[in-house]
Amino acid sequence: MKSIAFLSHKGGIGKTCLSLNTAVYLALQGKNVCLVDHDFFGPSLSTFVKPNVDWINEYIMGDKKPEDVLQDQSDAWNLPGKLILGFANPMAEAVQHIIRIDQKTSMRMLQNMLKLKKVLEADPYNIDYFILDSSPGTGFTTVNAMLISTVNIFCVKVGNADINGTSEMIAGLTRHLENKVLVLANQVPASSLDTDEKQRKLGELIIKKFKEKIPNETTYIGAIPTDIDMQLVEFETAYETLQGFPPKRIVHILEKPEHIFSKALIKYLPKILEEIG
Ligand SMILES: Nc1ncnc2c1ncn2[C@@H]1O[C@H](COP(=O)(O)OP(=O)(O)OP(=O)(O)O)[C@@H](O)[C@H]1O
Ligand SMILES: [Mg+2]
Repeated sequence: MKSIAFLSHKGGIGKTCLSLNTAVYLALQGKNVCLVDHDFFGPSLSTFVKPNVDWINEYIMGDKKPEDVLQDQSDAWNLPGKLILGFANPMAEAVQHIIRIDQKTSMRMLQNMLKLKKVLEADPYNIDYFILDSSPGTGFTTVNAMLISTVNIFCVKVGNADINGTSEMIAGLTRHLENKVLVLANQVPASSLDTDEKQRKLGELIIKKFKEKIPNETTYIGAIPTDIDMQLVEFETAYETLQGFPPKRIVHILEKPEHIFSKALIKYLPKILEEIG
């Protein structure tokens, strides 16, 4: 089983969309995938899928069994492979609880996630890819996600709010791990990517910056443009919610495969999988 964490220095870069769409892509290819919302500070997987299982918080605190917190989404989305989801609790009290936990409890959370990995690898789950959607920044949920995974996908928006911070984050957190580092730029202006030369130059500059301080194997994957249609879909579905309709979010690879975000991700996923090995 391969284990992958999506990470970023700043929030809103696209970790949740990227990790969920990657998980769905793999399940569409017939792979067995488990995606866990490991962003206990700002959970959001449950904004895409309504959970009908207990929160993963209850498993990591030792109160529930794995089968109580894992939701099989494969039939609902008609996926040839398994897609198992684990949801972090977005209620304010649950987030406050996580913020206040001590180091001993965070170690217990880590141990329980490592146990979950073992469970997922075996029957009846037989998971091929275990994916963690982490919190932004360098808090303990991020550190734990990195300790649980072997491949770290750092998502970066090419802006001065996160270029230096991402570089520091990669240097500070990966230096002592043997994790493979992949860098995926997201929400880059399309006009900055409209020629192969611009794409190549951007990749060269990013990788030079991020490799400065670390010995880890670091690979630049590519840049996903800002998808105006995706922003429009988010706005329209939120507008419906404001009008009183049930909230819904779109999984682009499943429902909007022709959109720029889906096409770009589909272009880069084979390279990501090749790097994961
Ligand atoms: N390439 C893109 N083009 C346009 N919009 C995008 C793109 N990628 C992500 N978004 C939008 O950006 C917003 C943030 O995405 P997402 O929630 O996946 O980020 P995140 O890194 O998980 O954020 P957080 O750190 O808050 O959990 C969403 O509204 C999403 O639709
Ligand atoms: Mg997120």
